Amino acid sequence: MTGSLKKFGLPQHVAIVMDGNGRWAARRHKPRLYGHKQGALHARDFVEIFAEYGIPYLTLYAFSTENWSRPKAEVDGIIKLLSENLDRAVKIAHEQNIRIRHLGKEDRLPEAIQRKARAAIEKTSNNSGLTVNVAFNYGGRSEIVNATQQIIRNRIKPDSLDESVFSRYLYTADMPDPDLFIRTGGEMRVSNFLIWQSAYAELYFTSVLWPDFGRDELQKALTDFGRRQRRFGGLKPK
Ligand code: IPE
Ligand code: IPE
Ligand code: MG
Repeated sequence: MTGSLKKFGLPQHVAIVMDGNGRWAARRHKPRLYGHKQGALHARDFVEIFAEYGIPYLTLYAFSTENWSRPKAEVDGIIKLLSENLDRAVKIAHEQNIRIRHLGKEDRLPEAIQRKARAAIEKTSNNSGLTVNVAFNYGGRSEIVNATQQIIRNRIKPDSLDESVFSRYLYTADMPDPDLFIRTGGEMRVSNFLIWQSAYAELYFTSVLWPDFGRDELQKALTDFGRRQRRFGGLKPK
């Protein structure tokens, strides 16, 4: 880490909407899936760069509950990429003491991939370095509905429900909320990503497309974060 970054506070949890793979490919007159392939390879390299900062949590938005509405060939291609990348990604992660977790629903994913993903999570569960949450088949509204269903099933009394109890039913139960929310690709929207958890996240939007979001771009985002004044509704910066 450079000296200049040390002067600023670092976030504890960075969440990234990895957007722009399709446009990255289109600019090169290649099919969209070529962009997804590049995006997936880039995600692997990015995690290694990110780990150098010592920030404990990274959440990567890889596939939303809404992305199923894309043409079947694209969806199938993305799922195939996930499957192909998983083994190697897990091997590298494990060697680097990285813990992998999944945020999202397991349903709709092929059984073989569900098994692979569960094995990856299990294998890395005792690692104590960076935690990487892969949000795949993830939707913030679906997560909130899912949490509510569990709360009702557990017969939690209405009066004993508060924000902290509710948070324990989310996929991110035991993690700090993201304090830096990055979106690549130029769109300035949240697209159903961590809508509960990002209530007070600092938002950072960049037009850089995901496969081009490397070391320098990450450093820029973290430096920008360090300059923000966070007040959480109060008057004094915290
Ligand atoms: C993000 O890239 C990856 C997924 C949503 C799966 P896109 O595929 O949305 O890329 P653009 O936004 O079309 O460029
Ligand atoms: C958000 O990107 C989802 C992921 C990056 C996984 P989208 O490309 O799906 O978002 P919209 O459709 O532009 O809102
Ligand atoms: Mg997009």
